[in-house]
Amino acid sequence: MNFYIKTYGCQMNERDSEALSGMLAARGWTRTEREDDARLLIFNTCSVRDQAERKALGKIMHMKKLKRRNEDIIIGVIGCMAQRMGDELFTELPHIDFVLGTGQLHELPDLVAQLVEERGVVHRAMLTGYSDDVLSGMSAHCFDENTPPVFGSVAITRGCNRFCSYCIVPYVRGREISRPADDVIAEIGQLAARGVREILLLGQNVAAFGLNGVLTPPPEDVSPFAELLERAAGVEGIARIRFTSPYPTYFSQRLIDTIAAEPKICRAIHLPVQSGSDRILKAMNRQYTAVSYLEIVNRLKRAVPGICFSTDVIVGFPGETEEDFAATRALMEEVGFDNAFIFKYSPRRGTVSAKHEDSVAMEDKERRNQLLLDDLAARSLRHNLALIGRRVEVLAEGPSARNPQRWCGKTSTAKTVFFAPIPGVNPGDMVTLEIARATHMSLFAGNISDLPDNE
Ligand code: 5AD
Ligand code: SF4
Repeated sequence: MNFYIKTYGCQMNERDSEALSGMLAARGWTRTEREDDARLLIFNTCSVRDQAERKALGKIMHMKKLKRRNEDIIIGVIGCMAQRMGDELFTELPHIDFVLGTGQLHELPDLVAQLVEERGVVHRAMLTGYSDDVLSGMSAHCFDENTPPVFGSVAITRGCNRFCSYCIVPYVRGREISRPADDVIAEIGQLAARGVREILLLGQNVAAFGLNGVLTPPPEDVSPFAELLERAAGVEGIARIRFTSPYPTYFSQRLIDTIAAEPKICRAIHLPVQSGSDRILKAMNRQYTAVSYLEIVNRLKRAVPGICFSTDVIVGFPGETEEDFAATRALMEEVGFDNAFIFKYSPRRGTVSAKHEDSVAMEDKERRNQLLLDDLAARSLRHNLALIGRRVEVLAEGPSARNPQRWCGKTSTAKTVFFAPIPGVNPGDMVTLEIARATHMSLFAGNISDLPDNE
């Protein structure tokens, strides 16, 4: 029987969907990309912004026609929106069969089996409780058979304890818990044995790994996360390690030293800043100022030559003035971010900041958003042009999706490089290439003879 799974939101959701796909495959299910070809349809949802919720609701609503055509299909809503809305979803979407929250995702295969086997008896099911088993029960993987598995991601923590005032994650994903380091290393070992070369470690605050959910950042000489990175780098076959996202204040000297000393740890750090205005940072309940954030960045820049930064920013937080926004813009320029996810503030019911008026007009949010995107494009073009003539090490991924005549790969600094296929170079191999051309999005190696397009 075929299943279809659609994922909204973050990389953690992508990873959960991959684990669930692996678990279903182990029970004999086959993944399909076609909704009308599936006996089971799963929607893994995100609640971080209203728009993500509305998109998912619209899509699932649309599935009504499939159900009308075939009563036997099973439709489930899982993840953050399932956790947040619970049985309200059965009212909004009467054609769905189950609701499964973030705290019991590992129950999906059993839940589905029950719904299939007892079709005439059990019509609906809802699981929105919390079980610690979700921590160990989500380690399965699922690779597309036609593509070599160069990349693999591993969740190392679940949940979040930080309660930033705008964020719904602590409410829908629950308290922060870390997996045992041995389990994480074993999972990385299994991925490496299947040919994975680059590992992405995931968590809402990865740098808090192993700290038992305490809110105060660790002393300078402590970092269980750094110890995990060292062990991950020692796994045979692993060439690169990335991680996302670390909360800024958890960059102890121990962690910075580890990154500096271990070249397998990628020179691209995603460091969510959210705002450059101290007043707004305080209202967001972020535990740093613009100056102390810059200090962490500068310590990393000094310790790790060539390091690049990316970030998350929210524009239009309640009370954000033009002056606050200008401070964000200035901070972004000072750090020199190569990439950023910019979000327009979206009030989430139940969070602290939702009690305040969503005071910034949508047109101001949109204008601020666009200004930051324009800054970013100009800055990354400048950075990329400066790489022309330089030789960079690239992890080859294989033919590019848009133009299979070309291959693509990534630098340690997370930049995409397009190059002409090289005899003897396979996906997962490391190649050194000279950069000949650049756009704000991509780099092009000298071995490409035609002109670059906008890939
Ligand atoms: N509105 C807009 N953006 C948000 N984020 C989290 N909550 C909200 C919200 N209510 C953004 C933050 C976070 C990223 C994952 O999503 O920038 O880092
Ligand atoms: Fe949300 Fe803040 Fe936790 Fe990130 S650190 S998931 S923004 S509460």
